[in-house]
Amino acid sequence: MKKIVLDVDTGIDDSLAIAYAVHSPELEVLGVTTCFGNVTVEEATRNTLVVLEHLDSNVPVIPGAAKPLFRDPTKGNTTYIHGEDGIGNTLSAEPQRQALSEHAANFIVEQVRILPGQVTIITVGTLTNLALAIMKAPEIVSLVDKVVIMGGAVTVHGNITPSAEANIYADPEAAEYVFRSGIPITLVGLDVTMKTLLPLEVLQSWRDKNTRIGHLLADMTEFYIGAYEDFYPGIGGCALHDPLAVGVAINPEFVKTVPMHVQVDVEGVHSLGRTVGDLRSIPGSGPNMDVCIEVDADRFLKHFLSLVV
Ligand code: BDR
Ligand code: CA
Repeated sequence: MKKIVLDVDTGIDDSLAIAYAVHSPELEVLGVTTCFGNVTVEEATRNTLVVLEHLDSNVPVIPGAAKPLFRDPTKGNTTYIHGEDGIGNTLSAEPQRQALSEHAANFIVEQVRILPGQVTIITVGTLTNLALAIMKAPEIVSLVDKVVIMGGAVTVHGNITPSAEANIYADPEAAEYVFRSGIPITLVGLDVTMKTLLPLEVLQSWRDKNTRIGHLLADMTEFYIGAYEDFYPGIGGCALHDPLAVGVAINPEFVKTVPMHVQVDVEGVHSLGRTVGDLRSIPGSGPNMDVCIEVDADRFLKHFLSLVV
């Protein structure tokens, strides 16, 4: 089993990613760390605990960054996509369980130190917690197995702005710091996640299972698909951004990657947070990550649907 730390800003697709990871026999989830992004860090922590309770899971939840490294928090337009509570307005009760009191960055460092060469970190929110972890303990760069990042848009347009993808835009300096750190990265960006669509029809089969998690995920995903249809008329479903990062950690064969040098625009007037890949035939620098450029969406979706509820 692959040991993972999942870093989230829960979020509807984060919720789907958590369920997929917890249910996967290939993964051992050491902990779920939380950060601001789709919602505040407090809301992300609460939502994560709610999802884990519906999964009957005792995986620890560890809260992290409340704001970007150097910037004031920005209020994105994610309530449109994720609802007022971040989970499609499905929140009916506060979670029973508490999060741990340590900081997410410390938890990441501890786990990587205890299990050298064995931990995969999957980030599906801002890169703030991982940047803080590397600042605190630079040696983790060579001690992790790898990092799978849902973020960026290297060959396609952005979503939060024309240039930038939301997770990178929310803390561009943190992303650039991680990209420059030398940590081994697989980047799962909009290049591939916008091709992995979940159609509305599957939700009935989740409800038919008559489990708490099946109903919760179906209800929130119905909201998410509605938002996608408003934003992208005729798209035919919602993008499985965060679940695809988990899928790539489980089976890298779901995607085709190319080694590339990627930098984040941290100063742009119109392109703040853009992930700029050196796609020239003779790049100026060596690669700092593997960028996913193609996905076998049918194969991934089949695997995801076999596990998520
Ligand atoms: C990413 O932004 C968030 O809204 C989603 O949860 C996902 O992690 C997609 O750009
Ligand atoms: Ca997310």
